Formats: sequence, structure tokens, C-alpha cells
Amino acid sequence: MKDYAHTLWLTGLSASGKTTLAYALAEALAARGVTSEVLDGDAVRQELSRDLGFSRDDRRENIRRVAHRCRQLNAAGTWAIAALISPYRDDREQARQTVGASRFIEVYLATPLTVCEARDPKGLYRRARAGDIAHFTGISDAYEAPLNPDLQFDTAARSLAQCVAATTQLLDAGSAGPLPKDVR
Ligand code: ADX
Repeated sequence: MKDYAHTLWLTGLSASGKTTLAYALAEALAARGVTSEVLDGDAVRQELSRDLGFSRDDRRENIRRVAHRCRQLNAAGTWAIAALISPYRDDREQARQTVGASRFIEVYLATPLTVCEARDPKGLYRRARAGDIAHFTGISDAYEAPLNPDLQFDTAARSLAQCVAATTQLLDAGSAGPLPKDVR
């Protein structure tokens, strides 16, 4: 197990499985005695980012705030699990810089749009297709897929247990040495 707190940054379309995986990972960490906090897009937007919408600038600001929160948590020794669409590469790169590259693990939920849209748990894709929601990610707004994520899962093809196991395997593999200078 990695020996200092990290941020797991889950990115992907709405209904790609971010929230489900985030809470399952928090449970897996807890089982190892590791404290974590989940920062989930829908919850964050009720609290920390209540004043923000879905314009390019507002999404950037949402991600900036969450990344700073992750940084604070990690500094206090708590793992952070962020589950945000975070559709723009630039914003995710900024988040990586804020958190510190050596603490930041990017997990791409690569579930295809067709699957996310068929799931449509909140009916938002249907409303976006009908034109009732503007700038909806994947329909009328961009999603820039990570080019080199640490982990990538298509939740239509992988079980939750498989996704959790692959993640904890990565965390176990990387228990290399003391805290790097840039995260002190
Ligand atoms: S992000 O783009 O700023 O990272 P975030 O993950 O916080 O997005 O919030 C996404 C959630 O907001 C979605 O799961 C969905 O429930 C809701 N939502 C409402 N409007 C939109 C929209 N235009 N695009 C994407 N998600 C939206």
C-alpha cells in the first residue's frame, strides 16, 4: 500500500460509474485502515460549488475547488477520492499540479456513451437529447478522454469488484519509499 495519502481522481461521462466506484474504493481503503473522503460531483454541487453551473469557466472553477480540497485532505493524511466528470484535459492537468503529481492517480471511467445513455439513472440524457438541458457532456458538450490515465475501466465490461481489485493492486504495487519532496 502506498505509504502517504493520495488523490484518486475519477473522470468520465455522467452515469459512467464514477460514484459507485468511488464509494467502493472508500470501503476498500477503510478495510485496510485507510481514511478517505469522497468528493462526488452531485454532492459537491450542492455544497462547495453550489453557485456554479456548467459553462466552461464554471466547470474549471468546480474542478479547481475540488482539487484544492483534495490537496488539503492529503496534507492532513486523508486520502481523497474525487468523482467528477471533469471533461477537460487542461482542468485535470491543473488538478494534478494542485494536488502534486506524485499523489495524483487518474482513473478514467471509459464506459461508452451508448451505455451511459441507456443507463440514464437521472433521466438527464433524455432531457439533453430533447434540448431541455444545454451543454450536456457527451451530447452537446465536449468530453476530452484522458490520453494516459493510470487506470481505465469500461464498467459495461468490468465488474465493480474487478475495478476495485485493479485499483488496490496499483496502490499495493506503488509502495515505493518515502514522501517525495514535492508533496511535503
Ligand atoms: S463537471 O463537469 O464540473 O466535472 P460534475 O461532475 O461536477 O461536472 O457534475 C456533473 C453532474 O451534474 C452530472 O452527473 C449531472 O447529474 C449534473 N448535470 C447537470 N447539468 C449537466 C450538464 N450540462 N453537463 C453535465 N452534467 C450535468
